[in-house]
Amino acid sequence: MEETGINIQASSSKHQAPIGLFDSGVGGTTIWKEVVALMPNENTLFLADNKNAPYGEKSKEEIIALCDANTQFLLAHHAKIIVVACNTATTNAISFLRNRYKDVPFIGIEPAIKPASLQSVTKKIGVLATRSTLSSDLFAKTSEHWKQEEDLEMIEQVGEGLIELIESGRMESTDMTRLLRKYLLPMVAEGIDYLVLGCTHYPYLLPQIRAILPANIKVIDSGYAVAKQTRKVLAEKGLLQQNTDVMGQHLWVASGRLDILQQFAPQGMASLQIEKK
Ligand code: DGL
Repeated sequence: MEETGINIQASSSKHQAPIGLFDSGVGGTTIWKEVVALMPNENTLFLADNKNAPYGEKSKEEIIALCDANTQFLLAHHAKIIVVACNTATTNAISFLRNRYKDVPFIGIEPAIKPASLQSVTKKIGVLATRSTLSSDLFAKTSEHWKQEEDLEMIEQVGEGLIELIESGRMESTDMTRLLRKYLLPMVAEGIDYLVLGCTHYPYLLPQIRAILPANIKVIDSGYAVAKQTRKVLAEKGLLQQNTDVMGQHLWVASGRLDILQQFAPQGMASLQIEKK
């Protein structure tokens, strides 16, 4: 990782140090938004490794190497906790990261199949996620557990091409509509009553997804649960921001196209492009 010159809370206490988050691209900002809504006083640093998106079509070894570099970047900028704001990165690399950085708390995100399984009435749920998430050992273990526990059918669908469209600024395009219809309508025909969004990019597609799905099908993601877990772990470790009079400071950085990342940013968000392999 090259020197970036970023100096976010470099000299501050462990309480004021930023929450570090990363994803392969803009998807992690859906998690960032939940984290900031829940903990408005915390400082944050979000890395979108969009130069290397999509992660979902990469091998486990490649994903681990990229996540390792992302972690080193965030730690070099004093992150007090790391939120792996990417299902693909979590399901393929979080064990490696926890093993390698034993003193660092990591929060991961996995497709919300537990709540969907428990609440499903038709006992048929759909999961839309990346290829690497759906083929990971962690996903296989969790999905097998819930299929058996609740005696349910899980229809797994790779969202091939969706990340590429979002990361190239074509989120609202006829190609996107075509792909979403292709992936979702067979699940509707199968009789699902829950759709799990197993990729942090997909909440941005919710209006388009809702326009395709009948109203009785519920759509869920894990964003709020991740934010709550982050707050819980920070509290347990005595790392929560103590000064509740100040609003947090935030920085988003991109290893690739900054203009795409900025399209998802709240007004006034500080952002910059960094050099990264
Ligand atoms: N946001 C990532 C996830 O949650 C997308 C992965 C990708 O880049 O393919 O899986």
